[in-house]
Order: sequence, then C-alpha cells, then structure tokens
Amino acid sequence: MTSAPTSSVNTGPVLRSAYQRSIAEYWNNEKNPVNIRLGEVDGLYHHHYGIGDYDQAVLDVPVELRDQAIIAELHRLETAQADVLLDHLGDIGPDDRLLDAGSGRGGTSLMANLRLGCQMDGVSISETQVAFANDQARQHGVADRVRFHFRNMLDTGFDSGVMRGIWTNETTMYVDLHQLYGEFARLIAPGGRYVCITGCYNDVTGGRSRAVSQIDQHYICNIHPRSEYFKALAANGFVPINVIDLTAATIPYWELRTQSSLATSIETPFLTAYREGSFHYLLIAADRV
Ligand SMILES: C[S@@+](CC[C@H](N)C(=O)[O-])C[C@H]1O[C@@H](n2cnc3c(N)ncnc32)[C@H](O)[C@@H]1O
Repeated sequence: MTSAPTSSVNTGPVLRSAYQRSIAEYWNNEKNPVNIRLGEVDGLYHHHYGIGDYDQAVLDVPVELRDQAIIAELHRLETAQADVLLDHLGDIGPDDRLLDAGSGRGGTSLMANLRLGCQMDGVSISETQVAFANDQARQHGVADRVRFHFRNMLDTGFDSGVMRGIWTNETTMYVDLHQLYGEFARLIAPGGRYVCITGCYNDVTGGRSRAVSQIDQHYICNIHPRSEYFKALAANGFVPINVIDLTAATIPYWELRTQSSLATSIETPFLTAYREGSFHYLLIAADRV
C-alpha cells in the first residue's frame, strides 16, 4: 500500500455550496463589455478596478473616437492597479512560484510572469474563465509557465509550502477570510508574502451602508469589514508590512467610468460609498511568519 505524500491535500468537489455554484454561474456567464472591451486594448484581461488620475484630454477627443479613448484610459488605470499589487510582492525571481487566487481572465498572472519571470498558477471557480485564461497564456507563448486551474481557493490541492507568494485581487469578498488565510498559511512557506487588494466596509462608521449593500447585491458578494482582514491574517500567522488606503486613488477611475458607454449601474454606489467614507479600497501586504 502506498501512502499519500504528507504535504498534499485531498480536495473534494470544487464547488461545495449553493452559494459557490451561484458565483461560478455568474462568472461563467459574465460577458460584460466593461471587462471584455478593456482587455481587447492590449490582450491583458482584468476583472478589477483602476487607480490613478486619468488624462482629462480623453474627454475632449472628437465624439467618434471619444469612447475608445476612454476605454483605453480605463484599461491603463486597471493595469496600473495590477502593477501596484505586483510592486508589493517583494523579491521574486524566475525560480519562485506564485498563486493568483481568484484569477479571473488571467491578466494579472500574465503581467507577473512577464515582469518577474516567475512560475504562475491561477485558480478560479469559473471553468469558462479558466479556459479563457489558459488560451491567453498560449497566445502569449507562456503556457509552460502560467497555468490556470478550475479549483477552489479555499482548498486548492497544491502541496504545502510550495508558493513563494499569493495574491487576491478583488476576490476575498466571496469567501470566509479565516478559511482562506488558513489555506494560504499552508501554501506559503515562512518568509513568503501575501498581497491583497480589496474593497472593505468601514467599521468605524458602523455597519454596512446602503451603498455597500447595493454593491454586495450587484456582485452576489459579501463585503467584509476592514477589521476582519487583520483579525483573520493575525490568526493565521500573517503579519502586515504595508497597508495602503487606495480609496482616493480609485475615485478618478469611477468618475471616468461614468463618462463611458460601458458604464453599468454600479458606478453611483461605488462613488457614494467611497465619498461618504463607508467603504475603502485597500492594499494589504503581509508576511508569513
Ligand atoms: C472580480 S473577479 C477578479 C478576477 C481577477 N483577480 C482580476 O483581478 O482580474 C473575482 C474572481 O474570483 C473568483 N472566485 C470567487 N470565489 C472563488 C473561490 N472560492 N475560489 C476560486 N476563485 C473564486 C471568481 O471566479 C472570479 O474569477
């Protein structure tokens, strides 16, 4: 009889609850132009928001070209967001392996491989996204170094301690943070780094505001209070080294989005929540001790 290696984990079915099935269905069917058209600009497809000031000149572009100029500018800001996330991973080299937890259509993983040369794994509970992202890796000629898997980030099945770093880019609002960071603590060897960019509600001003509840309902998610991140990180052996409030930096992205033909109905709740202070856009970088 052969015994299983002690460092690997038996995983059950990828989707374990009605809630997870509804999230998977949402992302499997998602073809929102605000995600697709921005990715078409240069072949890096993101499903996250942007940071930084936008170039006001795009608003003065002749009307027939204006919308495409706004789309290109929105894409520049969402790529800038991913760059800031990657800036916080610490020293990463070609021998290091990183996990993109909740990898969407794969844009940030491709950027990481291009920039750091590292080996990338991405996991998503959307089979459609995983297929799309693997196709992108082939098109970029990096399928041997960048792989996407239909797996649950709460129980990835990767061997213990194999990841030098992990990030979550706007994915933590779908899961229990204690469960998530328990799994990340297993995957990251001591000295490794976790980086998170997320929206979180502001406990200082009380509970979930109306605008935050509207965002939750729109995306079928469950935005956590700010305090929950730090409790769950500390409980699982992660010590923050950088916490950056990106709220002011993301507001221009939302303002520009309201001017685009791709605007959905969710711009107003985001702008309201950020401006009234009930919601923050945070980057947290934490070391595994
Ligand atoms: C807003 S998108 C962000 C995608 C990507 N991080 C990006 O920045 O483009 C949220 C992603 O989280 C994934 N997700 C949600 N719950 C998950 C889970 N339990 N395990 C793995 N992925 C999950 C979804 O499938 C989707 O890809």
